[in-house]
Amino acid sequence: MSGTINYSLCWEDQDILKILHQEGHEILIIGSAGCLSLSSLAFQDVRLHIIDINELQIKLIRLKVCAFNNLNYDDCMYFFGTFTPPKKSIERVDILLYLLQYLPKDDQIFWKLNKKTITKGLIHIGKWERYIRTWNKYFLPLVLSKNTIADFINSNKIEDQISIYKSKIDKFHYRLIFKTFTSKIIQSRFGRHPDLLKHFKDSPGDIWHDRLEKAWCGIPIIKNYFFRYILESHYRESMTLPDWAIRENYDIISKRTSNLSFHTNSLTEYLFNTSKNFDMIYISNVTDTLNQRDSDILFKQCAASLKKEGKLVIWNNLVERKPIKSFLLMEELSNIISKSRIASYYGYFGVYQLK
Ligand SMILES: C[S@@+](CC[C@H](N)C(=O)[O-])C[C@H]1O[C@@H](n2cnc3c(N)ncnc32)[C@H](O)[C@@H]1O
Repeated sequence: MSGTINYSLCWEDQDILKILHQEGHEILIIGSAGCLSLSSLAFQDVRLHIIDINELQIKLIRLKVCAFNNLNYDDCMYFFGTFTPPKKSIERVDILLYLLQYLPKDDQIFWKLNKKTITKGLIHIGKWERYIRTWNKYFLPLVLSKNTIADFINSNKIEDQISIYKSKIDKFHYRLIFKTFTSKIIQSRFGRHPDLLKHFKDSPGDIWHDRLEKAWCGIPIIKNYFFRYILESHYRESMTLPDWAIRENYDIISKRTSNLSFHTNSLTEYLFNTSKNFDMIYISNVTDTLNQRDSDILFKQCAASLKKEGKLVIWNNLVERKPIKSFLLMEELSNIISKSRIASYYGYFGVYQLK
């Protein structure tokens, strides 16, 4: 999963972190683009051990953290491109050059060599986010007018969303283009890492078309920042935001960034070598990429590294992997979170406690 920045945003709901964390907790979390880690600093004073197999994801998160530490809110959000679609601005390079002095030598070299990548905004540079941009800039307009998308995003009632979706969107052409664009071949080449799709034998396009119906028709769009990003490649400041992007959270997140530590490694190997015990382990959808045997090895390591009351949290997208040997699903909590989550493209979510 190395060699390229695959994600510049996290695509998983943050609510479960808000519910589970208590002051002083030790958390192990997959890095990805760092959104969940940054947001969780706004919720509680926890210690977060951020791990990712891809060194570039860790470099990206370190740069985000550096921006939180050394810029004010407006400059940081500008540098990230949070509230604007990807559009080149050379001033972002000036900000990057200013931030470099606070980064480790290796990161300085990497970002100097790749400074052009950040001109459109740091949250837009991932392979996945560029794929989404291609979707909403070139493919979505083939089937929907800009006005229809604007009307949808400005809908005040869920009934309006349903009516727009049924009457103007979910037609033959939309389905055809959506399913082609999200097919395995196109996605693995341009969107997600092929490892995330290799254990899934069906068509992701069919499944995602059905799952996204919830985003079109079941969740108020004002709340659904993930889906708004899928439609217009930026967040709107006037609508619901992930916690890391909220102005009122900025100072508290900046103050707590010393609670973060970074590790480049595979999760299984890291757990095998650590003597630490955690209150929570968030494994994202890493087991989408693993076969059942390797997933079981990882789950066993997680069980060995959790405190007695610790929890394991899994989001899986296309492949279901259950840690049944050592864990019990916390059914009620998992159902509540599943029902209210806005990341409706995830098929499987579970919070597990030790048996
Ligand atoms: C699994 S991806 C999933 C991202 C997104 N939720 C999705 O569905 O496309 C999240 C992060 O996990 C990292 N990753 C994948 N396998 C890993 C492993 N075995 N150990 C540590 N990190 C891993 C990737 O580099 C990536 O940054």
